[in-house]
Amino acid sequence: MEAARGGAWFIALEGPDGAGKSSVAELLVTRLLAAGHAATLTREPGGTRLGEQVRGILLDTANVARAPETDALLFNAARSQLVREVIRPALARGELVVCDRFADSTLAYQGYGSGVDLGMLRDVESWATGGLRPDLVILLDVPVAVGLARRGRGDPGSLTRFEDEARHDAAFHDRVRRGYLELAAADPGRWRVMNADGPRDEVANDVAEAALAFLVASEPNNDLTRIHP
Ligand code: TYD
Repeated sequence: MEAARGGAWFIALEGPDGAGKSSVAELLVTRLLAAGHAATLTREPGGTRLGEQVRGILLDTANVARAPETDALLFNAARSQLVREVIRPALARGELVVCDRFADSTLAYQGYGSGVDLGMLRDVESWATGGLRPDLVILLDVPVAVGLARRGRGDPGSLTRFEDEARHDAAFHDRVRRGYLELAAADPGRWRVMNADGPRDEVANDVAEAALAFLVASEPNNDLTRIHP
């Protein structure tokens, strides 16, 4: 497939726990680079020094009693820094940015999963990001039982607070998954829902094909007002 050259496009990978996003994100960037795109890979929570420190607070299993509103603010604090320090500068250099989770994770987890008001979350998000949104959101969708079983294969000692926490049970993950599907259904032009219940290589290939098809269909993106609103 012929790849479009140039274009400061922002692609986010989203999905429930155990969907395999992180390895798919790495393979996606490898494919984009091979197709001749300058591409930057980053992740949430994290991606900057401050963001990785906030990640440490967020994922610390000792912090069990924290309110979901507090989580939402911490995720957005890390996001605000990531947008200003990494994502916007990369877009301004004309690079593609692939982010392993972005603001829709907060809507899915703290909003749909934990019941924080979605309108409030969108307001905080828009302040934190300065209005920057991904041009393409690829949702790796897996049934909850499959995602949780995949996740459980890891070392139990390496579980993060989010994975360990009792209130993040199967019903919580079901709300998160349904939330993602609702967000995708409401904005089909920007979202692609991929079935991630298959071998990792096949899923990664499907994701790369979807991203490359999006780039081929899109004009090179030189709209700097979008990058510097
Ligand atoms: P991460 O380490 O990216 O886990 P995964 O390998 O599942 O992608 O993210 C850690 C957890 O943080 C994950 O359970 C999802 C959660 N999370 C939120 O609850 N809200 C958010 O805004 C983000 C970015 C992540």
